[in-house]
Amino acid sequence: ERPKPLAGRRIIVTSGPTHEPIDPVRYIANRSSGKQGHAIAAALAKLGADVRLVSGPVTIADPACVITTHVETAAEMKGAVESLLPADAAVFVAAVADWRTANAAGEKIKKVAGEGPPSLQMIENPDILAGVGHNRQRPGLVVGFAAETQDLISNAEAKLKKKGADFIVANDVSHESGIGPSGVMGGDRNKVRIVSKAGVEEWPEMGKDEVATRLAALIAE
Ligand code: C5P
Repeated sequence: ERPKPLAGRRIIVTSGPTHEPIDPVRYIANRSSGKQGHAIAAALAKLGADVRLVSGPVTIADPACVITTHVETAAEMKGAVESLLPADAAVFVAAVADWRTANAAGEKIKKVAGEGPPSLQMIENPDILAGVGHNRQRPGLVVGFAAETQDLISNAEAKLKKKGADFIVANDVSHESGIGPSGVMGGDRNKVRIVSKAGVEEWPEMGKDEVATRLAALIAE
């Protein structure tokens, strides 16, 4: 049997959304099923990598042959990722909430007649990818994702620099390609472009498992 190309390599993968609490029963989140991130973790493990998956709240099962850490918030995800450094590569697939509430209430916020809705004060979450991309323990290969509804390529190119990534996997989540069981978010298929310093490579639409297999092969290369 041929040796597996990623044997002995530690790779961190983030997947799923984060949940940012408003109070004990309510939260703010991004749309993400975790399907693409979990598929990438599994595909890297198949190539022999020692994969450490950090997953936000999802309803799908932990991938086989991968050590999974479960987190809720962006702050917890950042802590979990940093505790797994150093690593040979890191792939940031999670749809991290950009903002969290400044002060999550300790008790359920009550609806009081005549008082109207509460206003939420939001503060920025740390950018986990950018933190790792510019870390002194930066892995040799750092891959980010970009889901955009507009200006996909220019946004991905800007993210490459700002976040210190080697590749950005860009997907268009506008209109019909977007949300729900047949869309990119929640569905089983994906259409991505690989944006790097070398340029933009457009992949045809394919299943998320196939995107994962091809991306794992690219990472191994
Ligand atoms: O800036 P934007 O959220 O579009 O960037 C997406 C990329 O950055 C993804 O790879 C995502 O996992 C990562 N990210 C992160 N921490 C954040 C926001 C995004 O790691 N707070």
